[in-house]
Amino acid sequence: MKTNDTEGARAEQFPSQAHAIWVNHATLSPWPRETMAAVQDYASKTHLQGPLVYSEWMKMANRLREAAATLISAESARDISLLHNTTTGINTLIGGLEWRPGDNVVTLHEDFPSNTLPWLHLQGRGVEIRRVNARAADRPEMELLSSLDDRTRVLAISSVNWIDGYRLRLDELGRACRDAGIIFFVDAIQHLGALKLDVVREQVDVVCAGTHKWLLGPEGMGLFYCREAVRAHLQPAQLGWHMLQDRMAFEQPDRAIATDGRRFEPGTPNRLGQVAMLASLEVLLKAGTDEVESAILAHSGHLMTGLDAIKRVELMSDREPARRSGIVNFQVNAGQRDRVLSRLREQNVYAIARGEGIRLSPHFYQGEEVINRVLEIIEHSV
Ligand SMILES: Cc1ncc(COP(=O)(O)O)c(C=O)c1O
Repeated sequence: MKTNDTEGARAEQFPSQAHAIWVNHATLSPWPRETMAAVQDYASKTHLQGPLVYSEWMKMANRLREAAATLISAESARDISLLHNTTTGINTLIGGLEWRPGDNVVTLHEDFPSNTLPWLHLQGRGVEIRRVNARAADRPEMELLSSLDDRTRVLAISSVNWIDGYRLRLDELGRACRDAGIIFFVDAIQHLGALKLDVVREQVDVVCAGTHKWLLGPEGMGLFYCREAVRAHLQPAQLGWHMLQDRMAFEQPDRAIATDGRRFEPGTPNRLGQVAMLASLEVLLKAGTDEVESAILAHSGHLMTGLDAIKRVELMSDREPARRSGIVNFQVNAGQRDRVLSRLREQNVYAIARGEGIRLSPHFYQGEEVINRVLEIIEHSV
């Protein structure tokens, strides 16, 4: 949070806190007030003026691409596509590459199904999928890199693990992939909106993230970033009018496909979702990505110290600062997990069971008192 942001201002922006203490942003987030207002404004204008305000929405979409590019420090808004979710982004990458039998993809042994299933499906086309148990090694990045070879086309990871929040070092992976001409793909849905990401410095080629978790946005929207040099070789798997270079020239013989991120957006976009997504991104950018990240890491550190001090609780997330994210997972004695979750719920605190433990994922707008409250309830329920 910026230091001049008072608790009152945060409460004003996120009144949902008065009803529930939501420490489950790694699943879904409440919308900020601005997002609600933007959607109401869209509904009202569309109701009263209909398509007469269409040009306003086109400008809004451009601002959204700019905001998304700023969020990940991309070189240009041209590198951004506005898709439906993380999964669509992963399939856009897979569908856009020409695969040859004998190619391989290096990926994590444990990842969210969206980042394993589409890759595994490639096995039917003779592509080897190397699922590396990186976390079992002392140096997970080295373990991943040692699986790359001259037939590796893509290194595909989630930068933050969805169960315990373990964070991988992107710069190390990015550098090695760039040197070897391998596409470095990052599923950043558990990263963006909580932690900073600089696609240029960290040499990430392709990123995707849905907006309904840490980005505080709507379901059914996602950003897809693809570096220009990679995009030039990525064929659109789906085709339609909206991706034409000049999309309004319906009757022109020129059917050239856009070379920017629009080349992966085949049809009429989800305008309502875009409006909500922009408002949410603007809230985060206004708060400042440095400030958001440090507030979130402070929460994680605070939770880790507090959980460590509670007997009968075992912290499952890695304590090493470089491995921390917005997610903290802990275990309680066998059979007690449901009891702890329902005690939390009785006090209007919403966490979730993930892996063998309980996953906590507070956001930047919540104050230290929220973390203290959560710790207090846990201490009294085990
Ligand atoms: C790592 C990871 N990837 C992808 C998803 C979901 O992707 P989508 O935006 O397609 O629903 C999740 C949701 O929990 C996730 O944790």
